[in-house]
Amino acid sequence: MEKKRETWSWRGAFVFAVIGSAVGLGNAWRFPYVVAQNGGGAFFIPYLFALLTAGIPLMMLEFGIGHKYLGAPPIAYGRAKKDAEMVGWWGVGAAFVIITYYGVVMAWAINYLYHAFTLAWGTDTTSFFLFDFLKLSDGPGILGSLNMPILAAYVIGWILICWIIYSGVKGLGKVVMVTATLPVVILIILALRGLTLNGAMAGLDYYLSPNFAALGNVKVWMAAYGQVFFSLSLGMAVLIAYASYLPKDAEISNNVFIASLADAGIAFLAGFAIFSTVGYMAAERGTTVAEVAGGGGIGLAFFVYPQAINLLPGATFFGILFFLLLVTLAVDSQFSLVEGIVGSVMDKWNMKRGTALACVAIPGFLIGLVYVTSGGLYWLDIIDKFVNSYGLVAVGLAQCIVVGWIIGPDKIREHVNALSEIKVGKWFDFFIKYLTPVVLIYILISSLITDLKVPYEGYPGWALNVGWAMVVLLPVGSFLLSKLKTSKETEAAYSEETNISA
Ligand code: PFF
Repeated sequence: MEKKRETWSWRGAFVFAVIGSAVGLGNAWRFPYVVAQNGGGAFFIPYLFALLTAGIPLMMLEFGIGHKYLGAPPIAYGRAKKDAEMVGWWGVGAAFVIITYYGVVMAWAINYLYHAFTLAWGTDTTSFFLFDFLKLSDGPGILGSLNMPILAAYVIGWILICWIIYSGVKGLGKVVMVTATLPVVILIILALRGLTLNGAMAGLDYYLSPNFAALGNVKVWMAAYGQVFFSLSLGMAVLIAYASYLPKDAEISNNVFIASLADAGIAFLAGFAIFSTVGYMAAERGTTVAEVAGGGGIGLAFFVYPQAINLLPGATFFGILFFLLLVTLAVDSQFSLVEGIVGSVMDKWNMKRGTALACVAIPGFLIGLVYVTSGGLYWLDIIDKFVNSYGLVAVGLAQCIVVGWIIGPDKIREHVNALSEIKVGKWFDFFIKYLTPVVLIYILISSLITDLKVPYEGYPGWALNVGWAMVVLLPVGSFLLSKLKTSKETEAAYSEETNISA
């Protein structure tokens, strides 16, 4: 064996990296508005249900597969069962789709970090964001030209990501010491500041007051599952690849609990930071929180929150802090996705890190340019919607079927239990075989019915068809990739390095 598999350089590196990946833009802007739009405090019931029935079992499964079969997803699944390699590529494909637009949202955050120094968004923050900043066109059919400031930040972002990935798993372990902790520190400062503001309670009331009627609405449950998948970085190459860099005797199950609870806790904290501040803004303006929180979504971070910042004493400081938060949140989520894909390419074809990185980053960068145009926001919205509603959940389901019915969940459970202090019970087998897949099928079908009935956000059919085509192309492309030959070195390496016999 001429080459050893890379490993994490210190004990906590893995769990820091997983938390760094999980805690991202999904926690700071997505979670708060999803909660608010889906029944407020009552959303925690579907959210916890989704965490317990899909989040935790699937995280356990992904860590187990990566660690037992020692590879990024395609190779790990391929080693478990020859024909299962495709499931690994499916997750890699979904990750590839996400890196193309996540890098652009990161570029917006970098631009806004710069604008925060002068509070350049002015008083009409919505029109600043949509027209001055994005130069938004009239529809997805009009792309217009590349937006230069966004392009510049996009290039800087990619260079940073490539530099980090090129430093290898050891380098990642160092970078996450900062990127996983700094956002939490910033969030605590923002939450404390927010809670001491006049009107904060009204904001929290909007965020947390339960609307139990919402529990009867399937959409609320769909939103909870979507949020758990996206936020825990499930269904993509990330967690499997990260687990494959663990040493042979690593703890698995307690890392699952630490990472999933940290992610949920940090999302919860972000809600406090955002809604207390939005509550303050409502009080200052003499209006309701519902009125100012309005559309939410990307808007919450890029135009609602800046408005609130404008009103704060020390606005510039808090503006800088908030956009620094978004940038640091985005960086380690983005490089986790890129690493999952790069690791897969390296494993499959026994490629050098630099070559694999070029094979992933160059096309990823070029495709992402679509979102840097004037029509980019529409495409970002469409692709984000489809990859989240269908891509990730479908990969989660495929993993349950393959592990539950072909590889055998008991194999993964026994592997995890042999290493971990917290033992996983037989419930795991039941979840992976029956409960999780049944729930995911239900969620997928419900989303399908909703989206076929009402075109998403009223976009033209041809534009939505691009989203549907992406959803269909992912499994097809994965199947084709799984048929390509694996390098001999990769095949041989497993028999020498495997940590616990299959
Ligand atoms: N979990 C990240 C977030 O909440 O923003 C996004 C993400 C990162 C999704 C990595 C998927 C992934 F593999």
